[in-house]
Amino acid sequence: MARYEIHGGTPLRGSVTISGAKNAVVAILPAALLVNGPCRIENVPDISDVRILLDILQGMGASIEKPEPGVVVIDCTRVTQTRPDEKLVRKMRASYYLMGALLGRFGKAHVALPGGCNFASRPIDQHIKGFEMLGAAVEETDTYVDLRPGKEGLQGTRINLDVVSVGATINIMLAASLIPGQTILDNAAKEPHIVDLANFLNTMGARISGAGTDTVKIRGVNSLHGGTYAVIPDQIEAGTYMAAVAAAGGNVLVKNVIPKHMECITTKLQEMGVKVFNYDDAIRIQSNAQLRKTTVKTRPYPGFPTDMQAQICVCMSCAAGVSRLTESVYETRFFGYCTELQSMGANIQIAGKTATVIGVEQLYGATVAAHDLRAGAALVIAGLMASGTTVVENIHFIERGYENLVEKLTALGASIRRLED
Ligand code: EPU
Repeated sequence: MARYEIHGGTPLRGSVTISGAKNAVVAILPAALLVNGPCRIENVPDISDVRILLDILQGMGASIEKPEPGVVVIDCTRVTQTRPDEKLVRKMRASYYLMGALLGRFGKAHVALPGGCNFASRPIDQHIKGFEMLGAAVEETDTYVDLRPGKEGLQGTRINLDVVSVGATINIMLAASLIPGQTILDNAAKEPHIVDLANFLNTMGARISGAGTDTVKIRGVNSLHGGTYAVIPDQIEAGTYMAAVAAAGGNVLVKNVIPKHMECITTKLQEMGVKVFNYDDAIRIQSNAQLRKTTVKTRPYPGFPTDMQAQICVCMSCAAGVSRLTESVYETRFFGYCTELQSMGANIQIAGKTATVIGVEQLYGATVAAHDLRAGAALVIAGLMASGTTVVENIHFIERGYENLVEKLTALGASIRRLED
């Protein structure tokens, strides 16, 4: 089984370039199903979630070209399939965006329930509620969701999400882009990838306004046309490298970032004693690895992202004093990595939604396993700051969302290699 072997204790130095955002591109690729004509999508990360999605779309009849690294030209004009390959769909979470995109384009879809990182119960009731309010007849079983037009047909409407959901916001935007009339989505998620999807769809002729606020308005259009679009930089990948420098120490320029997206992460690292300098599209991080305690509560954007919970927990593990970390999006997320960190010497006590992290002097290398993408990234950071050798197993989770992790860390001076039996 593939694994990473890390020899910790080396400060990170140099620069790292952040790739396109995973959670944006996994929405934008299915969105190409709505478009008549070729979409040239730039800044596409080479990660396994993207490869699976491209395989799914190709299997449905999309033409896909990769004219240069980081660029995908996708043309879904000739797609007629509304039943994407079940096995591939089950390999990842964001394949549920095929539901909204197919509903918008064809008025019907038959999509297996998604797989992906199972760090918590991840219901899709708000997606289903949205589809039903748009006029779809929905059949949901334990294994698939079947969508077709209901008796009155599909029609834009006003939808209020009961919980702020990134996935439901995106799925409703996808479907409503080609459904007649206006859809007004209240209590929408505001993450940068929501705005990026809206910008992609608008570039192709959609009429979406308000993305990035609580209320997104989508005026359905008859068709979308091809065009060129560059995906935003990955907020969480950038945050992961920032946390790695904070934890292991060093001086790194993190390039291709949108500093505004990083504000809540930046603020927390500064509270912990890290020096952060913002430039137009880069951030410099300087750390002596002597961190101070802090308090973090995860929240939907613009709050501190749940996808950075595990990485900041590693920073807390060796910070002076007692830190508190409260998870308000996915309560069970701690279980994906805290036991592993404890086996490296961390002192973490979990009570319900809150982890109390009592800073220790040092983490020690151990063999640990990734249980999901961000938990895995956090264990890599732990390995970089620990003394001795750390082996991180189950790295397929990490490779789902981090492009060239080993190459990027090696260029920063880290001692990390990918081993395969
Ligand atoms: N929720 C419901 N019903 C729904 C949908 C969500 O109750 O129909 C609840 C969830 O249980 C959760 C909260 O609402 O408590 C937020 O879930 P959300 O729908 O926003 O999450 P998601 O769309 O499934 C995306 C990211 C996750 C990230 C979350 C939160 C993608 C592909 N995934 O998931 O990213 O953790 O938003 O920001 O965009 C990752 O990148 O590692 C990752 C897991």
